[in-house]
Amino acid sequence: MKGKFIVFEGIDGSGKTTQINKLSTWLRSSDLIPKNNQLVITREPGGTKLGKSIRSLLLDTSIETSPDSITELLLYAADRAQHINEIIRPTLNKGDWIISDRFCGSTLAYQGYGRKLDLKLIKNLETIATQGIYPDITFLLDIPVEESIKRRINRIDDRIEKEGRQFLSNVSLGFQRLSKDSKWKKISAINSTEEIISEIKYEIKKLLKNK
Ligand code: TYD
Repeated sequence: MKGKFIVFEGIDGSGKTTQINKLSTWLRSSDLIPKNNQLVITREPGGTKLGKSIRSLLLDTSIETSPDSITELLLYAADRAQHINEIIRPTLNKGDWIISDRFCGSTLAYQGYGRKLDLKLIKNLETIATQGIYPDITFLLDIPVEESIKRRINRIDDRIEKEGRQFLSNVSLGFQRLSKDSKWKKISAINSTEEIISEIKYEIKKLLKNK
């Protein structure tokens, strides 16, 4: 039996890590995952050993030359291709479940709406990198841009986070558009942690009922 593939998306500071931790604790203690299967938590970029090197090329601010937009897009696609082949496909084939912190939606939002690269080109690359493997459900943790900036005030920005307010607004608009898809669930992430996780649990139960 094929496992389930759950993705979390959102602009920086939307609280993905907290919700992923809460959801994984709940899933591991529930009987929703078949007894002989596991839950794997992963992320993009950097879900594999090779991906960790790609992640530092992408996000490290100490690297003197920044990749240009197309190079950046290709590096995210390379990270994803490796992630699909090494982690995602084998895990799902075993019937295990996956939660990934970011996936294709981030490329459309950041490189498409943020960097203004052609959405068709991004989708073509996506087909190559994913080889037809897509999430069963994607949660968009939605916060206003101002809230993202406020929450990250004491954190050191990585190369993408340094792009500033206008870039982040464009990315946010991208996520809003993407979340109209029926496999996306937009959740207001300015609510309390408990309210957010209970909405997520509700959607997961609904997903399992409909299958
Ligand atoms: P993330 O791991 O969420 O950052 P953090 O460790 O600070 O929580 O994401 C890394 C950054 O990479 C984030 O700013 C979004 C960006 N990104 C893209 O621009 N395109 C992509 O395809 C992906 C997966 C991430």
